[in-house]
Amino acid sequence: MSRCIAILNGGGDCPGLNGVIRAVVRAAVLQRGWRVLGIEDGFDGLVEGPRCRELDIRAVRGILPRGGTILGTSNRGNPFRYPLTDSDGNISLCDVSQRVVDNFHRLGADALVAVGGDGTLKIARRLSHLGMPMVGVPKTIDNDLRETDVTFGYNTAVGIVTEALDRLQTTAESHHRVMVVEVMGRDAGWIALESGIAGSAEVILLPEIPFDLDLVCEHIMRRRQAGSRFSIVVVAEGAFPRGGSKVVQATAEQTHGLERLGGIGHFVAGEIERRKGLETRVVVLGHTQRGGTPSPFDRILASRFGVQAVELIEKHEYGTMVALRGRNVVSIPIEHAVDGQNLVDPAGNLAWTAEQLGIHLGR
Ligand code: F6P
Repeated sequence: MSRCIAILNGGGDCPGLNGVIRAVVRAAVLQRGWRVLGIEDGFDGLVEGPRCRELDIRAVRGILPRGGTILGTSNRGNPFRYPLTDSDGNISLCDVSQRVVDNFHRLGADALVAVGGDGTLKIARRLSHLGMPMVGVPKTIDNDLRETDVTFGYNTAVGIVTEALDRLQTTAESHHRVMVVEVMGRDAGWIALESGIAGSAEVILLPEIPFDLDLVCEHIMRRRQAGSRFSIVVVAEGAFPRGGSKVVQATAEQTHGLERLGGIGHFVAGEIERRKGLETRVVVLGHTQRGGTPSPFDRILASRFGVQAVELIEKHEYGTMVALRGRNVVSIPIEHAVDGQNLVDPAGNLAWTAEQLGIHLGR
């Protein structure tokens, strides 16, 4: 039977989104003769309009190596708390979820693939409670989603940070400096920990392990005394000192979405310079970690997730999310996926490996 399905991505972009879109279109159009509609700018495209376009094979040609998303995205479009501006310019958060459901039905599609992180999948869960036939696909560079071994986008981000660390080693060494590198990840330290290990950092500070600056400074000084007059310190944006708190640029209320982190790198660098008089520089890698071409690993994972999402729709297995378990792509109830976060275990093997390598984790 010929069917019509829709796809959207929500939240921050990440490398591999286009790979999912392409895989959904190829599996649906080429293999099953279905139609695919691409919703623009995340759930915004269903609140307004609907705004969407037909995705045929030609529309997805050549997009596998491209970063970002051809559909556009938004990390403010939660239909259950949607910011609407009145005639006086005041913004209030309104529940426009019924409008989303109605607009979805107006499209004539019989299922929706929602590609996103924690926020988007929570919305997908609530919409599926309202009767929308949803299949979720997990994405995020932060790798903070439970129920999947890894999300696509993460491997690319670790690669970008590792390359940056390799480059920073040589300039830090030449100038005998401490180089503090702030990386993304929100409340999860995965990007910091794995890229820090891969990029031979001396210190890695994670949100999961509140750090002690005295210990960090002592470690850097010991290394200098041993003859290495430079150090690379990787700091996750969500890291914070013991007894202190995260550095927040904008609260969730201010952004009408998610809290915006950033600034801990400058704090750490300032303290190292003040306490030890060492010349220190800060590099904030920011959105470079999310931009550009996906790694082969992420292209493959995104393709597998997209193909599996279409398979689930064919079997009418809604309210599910695709996930990687070991070497297999499986489906799990979307209910489970968004309960809790996947965080680094301070007593786990990866943290232990880092410390066995002589990397200081600030504790
Ligand atoms: O969740 C992905 C992420 O890149 C986080 O690592 C980071 O904190 C956040 O998004 C940045 O969001 P924005 O693009 O809104 O600045």
